[in-house]
Amino acid sequence: MTLKKPVRKAVFPVAGLGTRFLPATKSVPKEMLTVLDKPVIQYVVDEARAAGIEHFIFVTGRNKAVIEDHFDLQYELQDTLEKRGKTAGLETLSRYQPEAGTTSFTRQQAPLGLGHAVWCARDIVGDEPFALLLPDMVMKDPKGCLSGMMELYGETGGNVVSTEEVAWEETHKYGVVEKGDAAGAGFEIRGMVEKPEPGTAPSNLFINGRYILQPEIFDILERQGPGAGNEIQLTDGMLNLASEQPFYGYVFEGETFDCGSKAGFIRANIAFAMDDDEVASEVREEMARHLG
Ligand code: UTP
Repeated sequence: MTLKKPVRKAVFPVAGLGTRFLPATKSVPKEMLTVLDKPVIQYVVDEARAAGIEHFIFVTGRNKAVIEDHFDLQYELQDTLEKRGKTAGLETLSRYQPEAGTTSFTRQQAPLGLGHAVWCARDIVGDEPFALLLPDMVMKDPKGCLSGMMELYGETGGNVVSTEEVAWEETHKYGVVEKGDAAGAGFEIRGMVEKPEPGTAPSNLFINGRYILQPEIFDILERQGPGAGNEIQLTDGMLNLASEQPFYGYVFEGETFDCGSKAGFIRANIAFAMDDDEVASEVREEMARHLG
């Protein structure tokens, strides 16, 4: 078994409740909150497309229909822009427009955990490896995290988990990997621990929300009961799969912003604003004013 089939599909679990952003997320999904001028979900879809992904699968929930609308053609808007000669707006729309038939949407029905959300995509993914991208994690890197992971996958096959260095004192907040021997540009993963007790983390490499997984994960998730927080946990499923298949770690060296938290979301807005000629100097001045 080589476990090296091409990765053509990506899954985006967007069915979480987003309670940390209430009341904004009462009617607007947190994935549609904007970092500068793009919704959070668009950054992650762009990263997947740049890595060669051909089919984009969204696991949504109630109140998330606007995500589907975002990736659809907005005929009335396009028509109005055309009639008014707004070519820049039209170009922006077409740049982000997925080709017909390249998106799929399914519903999780109840937010039973990330593992359960991934399992909901089983029929659309089918019997092939897939990328999994957590939309909360917006990454800033010229290469793109998933592109780097795809290169590693080309060398190793199997399952690939992206990791990133974090201060040792912070490891208890994350899923952390145990590092084994070098493998290609990455390393073999010996173990994974979800939120280790302070001082017990096997490394300071945390799992930052990007995965390439083999389809056997679906059978495991189907049989799996609830874990921590009474949710069906993806990490439990991966640990189970790791007893049958190899897992490799990729070390991401760009910047990651956890847009599921308020501070991370603001940091992302500042970082992307600094790269935008239209607003950078004004934002810098405003920050300087606040910093005294
Ligand atoms: P989070 O742990 O951030 O949970 O989910 P959440 O509900 O979205 O947000 P808070 O904590 O209440 O503010 C991590 C990722 O897993 C997805 C979320 O949409 C997010 O992308 N998820 C989580 C699901 O799709 N379904 C679930 O049942 C749980």
